[in-house]
Amino acid sequence: MNFRVRIEPSGHEFVAESSETVLEAALRHGCNLPYSCRNGACGTCKGKVIAGSLDYGTYESRALSESEKLAGMALFCRARPLSDVVIEAREIGAARGITIKTLPCRVIRMERLAPDVMGLHLKLPQNERLQFLAGQYVDILLRDGRRRSFSIANAPHDDAALQLHVRHLPGGVFSEHVFTRMKEKDLLRFQGPLGTFFLREEDEAGTTGQQAAARPVILVAGGTGFAPIKGILEHAFYAGLKRPIHLFRGARARRDLYLDDLVRSWEQAYSNFRYTPVLSAAEPADRWEGRSGWVHEAVVQDYPDLAGYEIYASGPPPMIEAGRQAFAAHGLPADRLFYDSFEHALDNTAG
Ligand code: FES
Repeated sequence: MNFRVRIEPSGHEFVAESSETVLEAALRHGCNLPYSCRNGACGTCKGKVIAGSLDYGTYESRALSESEKLAGMALFCRARPLSDVVIEAREIGAARGITIKTLPCRVIRMERLAPDVMGLHLKLPQNERLQFLAGQYVDILLRDGRRRSFSIANAPHDDAALQLHVRHLPGGVFSEHVFTRMKEKDLLRFQGPLGTFFLREEDEAGTTGQQAAARPVILVAGGTGFAPIKGILEHAFYAGLKRPIHLFRGARARRDLYLDDLVRSWEQAYSNFRYTPVLSAAEPADRWEGRSGWVHEAVVQDYPDLAGYEIYASGPPPMIEAGRQAFAAHGLPADRLFYDSFEHALDNTAG
């Protein structure tokens, strides 16, 4: 049975088929609700149910707590309508009109960025281009039907090849393949672009205060969460954005700060850009004299009042969770935190 879904405050309406989640139906109709993992794990798609009933589906309690559910919240990537429903959610204009495609691609270059990180450069068929926003991700489609999600590490203007950063998870079905058997010229298939992790260059309806285009930006990257941040930065530099941008990058030891020279060269080239690497387990050989500890702690040490900022954080779930709590405690408005947790890799935990 099909049901009508209305989104407030935009008033957009569409029909959800019985097999569809609210998010799937919304995207099919060109309504861009925020989302990341599509797995009930990250909480990005959380919104309010104003009227009607839903099957909440399966999800992780840290993405939607029992008290949030009682307060009428739902995860739209998992929830299916059981009646006509009215929901409250912010729609994102920037991704509108971008088509999600399923395409073949060829591995044209493999570069070892760190001992356990491989950079893949993927070439699309000659007559195809992928329109995307810096920071979005693609799903690599495996032969057995499983998917592996990877952020696009390049910016849209530099789209001769799609760049992905793949961390080696021993035993992981895709990453093990990348590190042991994949060769240049191999063929892959992917679907994308996906997700709503991209720089907000315009305020969404209803936002007040300082304009987004002028608001200072803090970027927080952990591990291969650097990939979408790299794309966002390259886009910002190319577009000549003048907003102050401060990147905090967390890693265990110096060897994990892959492409560090590139980031330092940006600091030289762009006066609105600052870079703070933070190591949590520097090794004696690192001779590290920079910041130490957890990356979210370095952010709030430097910015004890986050009320006037936007934060974009990308990295492993514990980093995102710790950051969410710390940033909120330091005054960051909830609608100014954008995050890309590796949870869109949840069905990817093995690789
Ligand atoms: Fe719905 Fe992550 S919980 S997109």
